Amino acid sequence: MEIQLAKQHGFCFGVKRAIQIAEEYKNSFTFGPLIHNNLEIQRLKNQFNVGLKENIEEFKSGDKLIIRTHGIEKENLDYLHQNNIKFIDATCPFVTKLQKTVKEMSRQNYDIVIFGDINHPEIKGVKSYSLKPATVVLNVEELQSKKFSNKIALVAQTTRKIEEFQKLATYLIKHYKEVRVFNTICNATFENQIAARELAKEADVMIIIGGKNSSNTKQLVNICQSECVSCYHIESEDELKKDWFANKKLCGITAGASTPDWIIQKVFNKIKKFNVK
Ligand code: F3S
Repeated sequence: MEIQLAKQHGFCFGVKRAIQIAEEYKNSFTFGPLIHNNLEIQRLKNQFNVGLKENIEEFKSGDKLIIRTHGIEKENLDYLHQNNIKFIDATCPFVTKLQKTVKEMSRQNYDIVIFGDINHPEIKGVKSYSLKPATVVLNVEELQSKKFSNKIALVAQTTRKIEEFQKLATYLIKHYKEVRVFNTICNATFENQIAARELAKEADVMIIIGGKNSSNTKQLVNICQSECVSCYHIESEDELKKDWFANKKLCGITAGASTPDWIIQKVFNKIKKFNVK
């Protein structure tokens, strides 16, 4: 049996960068989980003594903090400055750009409309950079009940779908005089999805690696299932079963955006060791 990795899989640029920063900034704590992968968080703890604190008030002067990939709220950043807490910023540059856009456009007196999930840490952070109350919506229906001035700036959570974003832009342009649209969507997640679909079309068994509650991994599972009848979602090589591969010719492997390479490699090696003919 041949084993093939999807052309694009696993960590995106922002997560790779954050992990690298955490490895260099030893004996520190992240505020909230750096990424959604428990095994990787455990590895950072064991090898680099990078711990985890969930509340900003738990940090005291002298602590070293790493700001996670999704960024943090402006108030929390102020807390760090006021309490003299050393920190290094691992916010993905695409998220920083989004925060800056919101700040600048609100400064220019545009009403801020954010397409995203109000409970997601990235959006909580982005919203806090607006100098006036910002509106967060998930769809056009939610927009219809709101009233804005005639100057609107529209931005999106980095992982949203472009088609949905376009619908919001179209609605606003129809109803308001001046709408500035900033496409702040990041393509990394979609590149993994396109590559997974391509491979799933060819493969007769697909292994999808990632956290059982990671939403982008679940999306990959759905995509693979629509192209390939035998799909298995696993978190580590321990879950693999040899009989999944019986009589198969091509095994495809893909991984969610928070799955580290070392886990993917272990899965690959174990399937290879099964030595399915
Ligand atoms: Fe950044 Fe895009 Fe990843 S915004 S954290 S590179 S999904």
